[in-house]
Amino acid sequence: RTGARVERLPLARYTTLGVGGESEVWFVSTQEQLAEAMEQPYRILGGGSNLVIADGGVPERVLRLSGPFAERDLEPDPQLSTGTEIVTGWVGGGVPLPGLVRALQKLGLSNLEGTVGIPGQVGGSVWMNAGTRFGEMFGGLHTIEIATPGGVRQVTPDDLNWGYRQSGIPRNHIVTRVRLKLRRSTPGEVQANMDAADQARKGQPKNKTPGCAFKNPTLPDGHKVSAGKLIDEAGLKGTRVGNAMIASEHANFIVNLGGATAADVHALLEVIREKVGVPMELEYELWP
Ligand code: EPU
Repeated sequence: RTGARVERLPLARYTTLGVGGESEVWFVSTQEQLAEAMEQPYRILGGGSNLVIADGGVPERVLRLSGPFAERDLEPDPQLSTGTEIVTGWVGGGVPLPGLVRALQKLGLSNLEGTVGIPGQVGGSVWMNAGTRFGEMFGGLHTIEIATPGGVRQVTPDDLNWGYRQSGIPRNHIVTRVRLKLRRSTPGEVQANMDAADQARKGQPKNKTPGCAFKNPTLPDGHKVSAGKLIDEAGLKGTRVGNAMIASEHANFIVNLGGATAADVHALLEVIREKVGVPMELEYELWP
């Protein structure tokens, strides 16, 4: 045994939606512990901010990065940095994104400030290329370390088929660490960019939600439209199933009014699909 801490825990407390039953959680802090955890079927739990977990939990091991996988070294690497472009040391997949974005602002380092307000961890945010209209994770990545069932490997964004809200990294691969590619700027300029991105989220619900439910679809004429706008136009704001509700602030958000179940959320997603009519890809991850 490699010594990973293993505990049965209610997963609701690890998600921003606050839904999800008990499962076996593996807290891994070394590559050896991770490799052992990956020997049986597993799922990876990051910040739990884009996730709807079943009321009965999941039968698989739930892996959570901790220890050194949740640490960050933002010191520029002189070997890789050139002029205004700097490449940092390693930032763990278990590092919370909001704290990272704040630290980069203080250092006057730009490229990731458009992700301000996203509550996830670095690993999950990279895996889904989380972002806003002001920037996304792949705007600031140099190297990505990935644990796969076949071993650990390091790739660059060019090696991946990434795009809007997708990294091209397979589902069972784990982003363990990344090196960031940043531009030297000033704390003031970075803060100004953060303020602009913040402004765009002002009307969004902040509590007990996994964020936007659907990716913005591309219409047959090639235009990308806001899924929230489509759901709003279908008249669905405020629609409830049990204690899950389509937010009245922004129609692409599902909120937990308190005591919502995964079944409520699934039923509400079905109502949206049916009423909107335009095919939309789910942004939430559903367990199982
Ligand atoms: N709109 C409505 N009704 C609504 C929601 C939006 O009419 O209920 C209209 C707005 O008034 C605006 C337009 O639709 O004219 C676009 O809305 P918004 O600026 O909120 O942008 P969005 O495309 O709906 C995207 C991201 C959000 C991100 C915001 C702000 C997706 C699926 N959504 O939303 O990301 O916070 O831009 O940058 O890409 C997320 O991914 O979890 C998420 C919430």
